[in-house]
Amino acid sequence: MIIIFKFIKDKLTKKSIEREIDIEKAPKHVGIIMDGHGRWAKKRGLPRSAGHRAGAQKLRVITEYAKSLGVKYITAYAFSTENWKRPKAEVDSLMELLLEYLRDRDQLAGKDVIIRVIGDRSALSDEINREIDIVEECTKDREGLVLYLAINYGGRQEIVRAVKDLSKQLKDGEISGEDITEQMISDRLYTPDVPDVDLIIRPSGELRLSNFLLWQSAYSEFWFSDINWPEFTEKDFAGAILDYQNRNRRFGGV
Ligand code: FPP
Repeated sequence: MIIIFKFIKDKLTKKSIEREIDIEKAPKHVGIIMDGHGRWAKKRGLPRSAGHRAGAQKLRVITEYAKSLGVKYITAYAFSTENWKRPKAEVDSLMELLLEYLRDRDQLAGKDVIIRVIGDRSALSDEINREIDIVEECTKDREGLVLYLAINYGGRQEIVRAVKDLSKQLKDGEISGEDITEQMISDRLYTPDVPDVDLIIRPSGELRLSNFLLWQSAYSEFWFSDINWPEFTEKDFAGAILDYQNRNRRFGGV
């Protein structure tokens, strides 16, 4: 059965999928766990860094396309709090790539995209922090989609940060423990004004969340695919949006 569905899907064109999409029902917030860069590079006899570069290029293509499908926010997982465990040479090359893309904001996300960074910036170099400030300032008045780049980001670390903030207010007597609500945690996350993530896309065949948007994904829909991120296409993205629209989101109701 799955093979028949896959066959039908493969026969569809990007245009025919787009015709089925109802922009009004598009997910407002899409999370992307960019993955499979190393495997993509290995298949081509290239260094892992080439895979990361191809992944970064793909982010711009998909971000621009997402805008045309009515998506308002994308959060892309660029570097997790756990990625420091990778060999130093790979971490250094990822930081170099981030710096290069932050310096060239249109290469990062296209012309009409607001770029913001979430994550613990204290471990990032002064140079990267400076470029983040510049890119956020230079894109803040743009209209359209907001791209959140998660750098040195971890969902648990984000929740701990919110709890620490609350505990300070508790200690200062500004709030009492009984008053704490879910909303008060949400308000202390990196993106308090952004709707919870509606759809999380993870390519490359991995079926996990990897500490991504833990709080915000309580009722997210998930879309997995075997395709490595560098070869992910606009058609794949359109397919994910259409699948999302055909799901029945009940949020715990009936
Ligand atoms: C996981 O693939 C990917 C990462 C840990 C890094 C993702 C980062 C980028 C694409 C660069 C982001 C930069 C910008 C400017 C957006 P993997 O390396 O684990 O691949 P594998 O599982 O096939 O080895």
